[in-house]
Amino acid sequence: FQHTSCPQNVFFHFVASASADASLLRATISASFPYLNFKIYRFQDSAVAGLISTSIRSALDCPLNYARSYLADLLPTCVRRVVYLDSDLVLVDDIAKLAAIPLGAEKVLAAPEYCNANFTSYFTPTFWSNPSLSLTFANRKACYFNTGVMVIDLERWRAGDYTTKIEEWMELQKRMRIYELGSLPPFLLVFAGNIAAVDHRWNQHGLGGDNFRGLCRDLHPGPVSLLHWSGKGKPWARLDASRPCPLDALWAPYDLLKPPYSFDS
Ligand SMILES: *[C@@H]1O[C@H](CO)[C@@H](O)[C@H](O)[C@H]1NC(C)=O
Repeated sequence: FQHTSCPQNVFFHFVASASADASLLRATISASFPYLNFKIYRFQDSAVAGLISTSIRSALDCPLNYARSYLADLLPTCVRRVVYLDSDLVLVDDIAKLAAIPLGAEKVLAAPEYCNANFTSYFTPTFWSNPSLSLTFANRKACYFNTGVMVIDLERWRAGDYTTKIEEWMELQKRMRIYELGSLPPFLLVFAGNIAAVDHRWNQHGLGGDNFRGLCRDLHPGPVSLLHWSGKGKPWARLDASRPCPLDALWAPYDLLKPPYSFDS
């Protein structure tokens, strides 16, 4: 909101757990951003609870983590395109540029792709040794992408019923373990190799550290439009514990719960 050239054009759709105090959330957002156009949607945990299998990181098993798969159902049909953003990131560039990324004639989703990442490691040997499963990626130049930052064409998503496609993989995962992480692998199964590429500057991810220990990480080389503390360590927790990583200083000015910092400009 602070970095966009035309804040009047920005509309935030907040997805909150149905058990969250919506009026407190609404009051907090309004107090912090008096001019923000926004709406809060309640995500019913029951929509996905029966589909979640435990992952190697318990934080990933939270039902709200799967809300990104249901945006096409949650948001009104007049919303045709959305930029999905995780809650552990800061944009330091104009979101209008990201929202305007071309999706071509038929792509449903755009995100930064990482073709040097070891794609094999996102799925279990059970998956790769089963030809009817591993053939999913045949004839696809599948690369890893992070699901914390995605431009989604909701019209195309609805037309192709991609929510059902993702749920089908989650149902399979409950029967035979084909991956270890939470909401990410079903997105890779459905979309990897078929997305519009976005410049890496739009997701400098991994700043939380690795998935197991949360070790400090440095920025990736190149320009930065978005800082993403994905991974186990979170800057607000490390700052509160007085054990921050060096890059957590970039988060501190945006921490709404720290009174000395102000957004007035
Ligand atoms: C990629 O990951 C798989 C599974 O974790 C591993 O067996 C393989 O050696 C890795 N490949 C490279 C090039 O690191």
